[in-house]
Amino acid sequence: MKAPLDSNFETTVDLKLSTQWLGKNLLFYRCLDSTNNFTLKLARKKAPHGTVVWAREQTAGRGRGNKTWYSPPGTGLYFSILLYPPVPLFTWPLLSLVTGVAAAKALENKTGEAMGLKWPNDIWGHGHKLGGILTESQGQAVVIGIGLNINHDFFSPEFCQATSLFLLTQKHFVLEEVLADLLLHLERAYDAFFQGDKSFLSEWRKRNILKNKKVTIRTGDKITTGWVSDIDDQGALILEKAKGKTYAIVSGEVLKIE
Ligand code: BTN
Repeated sequence: MKAPLDSNFETTVDLKLSTQWLGKNLLFYRCLDSTNNFTLKLARKKAPHGTVVWAREQTAGRGRGNKTWYSPPGTGLYFSILLYPPVPLFTWPLLSLVTGVAAAKALENKTGEAMGLKWPNDIWGHGHKLGGILTESQGQAVVIGIGLNINHDFFSPEFCQATSLFLLTQKHFVLEEVLADLLLHLERAYDAFFQGDKSFLSEWRKRNILKNKKVTIRTGDKITTGWVSDIDDQGALILEKAKGKTYAIVSGEVLKIE
């Protein structure tokens, strides 16, 4: 048997995929710095639409806003999806919302637990953060990185906001099975979105954990406080600062929820 070109590359992953195109090109690594970094490099080499890069461990997993994403081996899912979206550029930011809804639905089916979504793109369960989505674009490509806490039975105090599927259900999950389910839900959601379906917006709104909450948000170097009424059809957060005065926040970080 030939030695693999890259000993970090594993081909023996047992993933029972029932997708048509998403993950048909699946690259699985024992350890990467960040699956998003790796997939952005693949995008430069024009890797196929629907390529999925999965790592058992990340040494420099990245979250939004230059945060690191805690990525110990075996307990979490860390993967990135490469798409060349066949839709206008101005709609690409909605792919994060589409991804969040599809991931929430897949996890709800798997666990029977209700999932929440926190703007812009966190997946929450029982009031704690279960996962996050980091979407980056490069030329004609979009890389969607998803990190989910699956079998963690403990988080140190610095991760006091975090939870895992195990902590929610007291059950252990096979990562391969969770990933295969996620990819099937994601493929259906992307196909619908690419065909102009907007139902993900109402699905997102149903799970909006910030609805009617008072929040403090950082946008650039500005800090704003107000009441969340909803998200608009472009995915911006609608914040009511004074009676009848609403603002659409396109990007930002929620610092405090009251
Ligand atoms: C966030 O909530 O801040 C987003 C977290 C995204 C983490 C995932 S893990 C897989 C992919 N690779 C990365 O380096 N980041 C994303």
